[in-house]
Amino acid sequence: MHATKVTDDTYLLSVNVENILFEGLWEIPNGVALNSYIVKGEKTAIIDGVCGWEGVPEKLYKLLDELQIDPMSIEYLIINHMEPDHSGWIEDFKQIRSDFKVVCSRKAAELLEHFYGHTENVICVGDKDTLDLGNGHLLKFYEIPNVHWPDTIVTFDSLTGALFSCDAFGTFGKADTANYDDLLTEEQLLFFEKEAERYYANIVSAFSGPVKKAIEKCSTLPIRLIAPGHGIVWRKDPARIVQNYTDFASFQKGPAREEITIIWGSMYGMTEKAVNHAVKILEDEKIRHHVHRMPESSWGTVLTSAWTSTGIILAMPTYEYKMFPPVAAILEEIGKKKVQNRKAFRMGSYGWSGGAQKELDEILDRNRMNWDFLDPVEFRGNASEEDFKQIEYAVRELVHQVREAVKTG
Ligand code: FEO
Repeated sequence: MHATKVTDDTYLLSVNVENILFEGLWEIPNGVALNSYIVKGEKTAIIDGVCGWEGVPEKLYKLLDELQIDPMSIEYLIINHMEPDHSGWIEDFKQIRSDFKVVCSRKAAELLEHFYGHTENVICVGDKDTLDLGNGHLLKFYEIPNVHWPDTIVTFDSLTGALFSCDAFGTFGKADTANYDDLLTEEQLLFFEKEAERYYANIVSAFSGPVKKAIEKCSTLPIRLIAPGHGIVWRKDPARIVQNYTDFASFQKGPAREEITIIWGSMYGMTEKAVNHAVKILEDEKIRHHVHRMPESSWGTVLTSAWTSTGIILAMPTYEYKMFPPVAAILEEIGKKKVQNRKAFRMGSYGWSGGAQKELDEILDRNRMNWDFLDPVEFRGNASEEDFKQIEYAVRELVHQVREAVKTG
């Protein structure tokens, strides 16, 4: 829990949250920092009043107290995005002051009533609309639809050059020591960059087209610092997180990095032996790889690996004439996140009949994934020596294709 000065008249109220599933779905092993910002001109605004978790409103009030800001003096609640991790404070704040004004996009206003029963004193803003807080703090708004909901805007303070970017440029990872890139070591920054990868893959990856448009739009602004809704504030090198997001967005259509992800499941160890063989080949090829067994691995972790990998190996047995269900489930989610144009190879065991391939084809078609597969290796029961040779050939070929794809871009 931190209350700190970001820049002139601008303060960060940050609350670490852990031991939850983000959006009720995604594991966050390293937690997340949820951020609200106060901008004080002649009038005071809070941007993205976070809430949604037990104890958070109380912590926010305590932080305001530390900053000697009377909640009664907050005239505007600027809601960049109506998802409750940005807007959840409204309900609680209403009990303190009833005549505040909500500033949000027209689309967000539609949800305001349904989420919080709030319809009065709503100021709808769109591209380039402004709000003058006085003392030079002229706030400008820009729509960045679908980063991450259709309602999302960013707020730009033309005096300080602060971009309050909401979900854009956010990361997972709690901020234990400091919330600013200029106060962190390179090792700590690398941690947040890894957490950005996870956040991007889990939360905004499906909207990579809109992310590219948002980056383009924001690049026209004289940004001096980026203050996202999640993670750390980038005030020494905002271009660093913008470059990260540019890279992540490009991974959707591939190629991504020179990495291979194995997603596998096994019932009685027969497919597992083939996976172990494939891993040895990858080690021999000295290519970075990630190995995830399903259903044991968390979806968020697997999705992050798939997002950053140019090559995917799927290994699963046929189960009741279909693909082993936990592998089918994560593959469907990978498809919904639009992980496209990967180099891929599938292998696996069957007993009485195949069937995994048919379901795989259905998932790939339904989600228009356009993965480029090598010939599969399927084996009845245990893999034979010949099967192991074919697996080795296919894995080495996959490595070659991944390297070529990354090299030629
Ligand atoms: Fe951080 Fe889409 O909410």
